[in-house]
Amino acid sequence: MADVLPPPTPSEAPASLPLKPIGKVIAITSGKGGVGKTFVSANLAAALAKLGLRVLVLDADLGLANLDVVLNLYPKTTLHDVFTGKAKLEDAIVRAPGGFSVLLAGSGMVEYSRLTPEVRDDFLRIMGGLVPHYDVVLLDTGAGISDVVLFAVSLASEVIVVATPEPTSLTDAYATVKVLVGQQKRQTIRMVINQTARLGDGRAITVQLQQVLDRFVPTAPGHPIKLVHMGDIPADPAVRQAIMRRQLLMQATPGCPAAMAISQLALKLEESVITRSR
Ligand SMILES: Nc1ncnc2c1ncn2[C@@H]1O[C@H](COP(=O)(O)OP(=O)(O)OP(=O)(O)O)[C@@H](O)[C@H]1O
Ligand SMILES: [Mg+2]
Repeated sequence: MADVLPPPTPSEAPASLPLKPIGKVIAITSGKGGVGKTFVSANLAAALAKLGLRVLVLDADLGLANLDVVLNLYPKTTLHDVFTGKAKLEDAIVRAPGGFSVLLAGSGMVEYSRLTPEVRDDFLRIMGGLVPHYDVVLLDTGAGISDVVLFAVSLASEVIVVATPEPTSLTDAYATVKVLVGQQKRQTIRMVINQTARLGDGRAITVQLQQVLDRFVPTAPGHPIKLVHMGDIPADPAVRQAIMRRQLLMQATPGCPAAMAISQLALKLEESVITRSR
């Protein structure tokens, strides 16, 4: 795999590097923290792998990474070692229990929670080396609209905003969508509403958010912003149980309502996003 890594970019050049979205990369982000991004990323990866896709999850929540905890994986070599030049990219990729690959941030990444030219450079180099090897790369990002989060999202061709039905989460999801539209000129943003209480709640929320956007966010004529509702994931006690046992929900209780919703989400993503970019 080393032969596919592009040559390192000089660190004085990054400001001029184009932020071209790379194909097959899906960012999983949110306005508010703790809404389920890491849980969704890990389990969606397992569901996509079950469909026969080669999947990699990258722990792009550099400052507060916790994908390792959810997957119960503590590899010796992590993204931190790749960033600091102590290890090769391929040595930091590990196999997760759900049949997908994962690149964990590891501790010591706090210094990368600020977007410096070096962080941008490293990130771009790593993405360039990874993407050709997978059908889909999921970026488990941090919450909010800090420049590191927005940079990670800018590397993705598709973005999924995870929100819960709580008013605070919805306000923050709206703020995130507004920034993605304004700064990244995104026209399509995919929504997953997690921890819903009733069937149909998520779709109603997406429709409501769309109405607020249409009313308050100006767009260029002929360039409407579209929120695409990708699915609801119900609040399910099995999620917490799986996390407490450090297991993937898709493996611990594949038949529970939240796991079934994630399988549906994987199918919908494969149909609407992944196959098209292959
Ligand atoms: N569908 C669900 N049903 C029940 N509990 C859930 C569900 N989804 C997530 N949770 C709970 O929410 C917690 C937080 O999830 P997770 O760590 O994935 O959020 P996050 O968005 O990645 O957080 P952060 O912003 O800190 O990265 C989980 O540990 C779990 O207990
Ligand atoms: Mg997380």
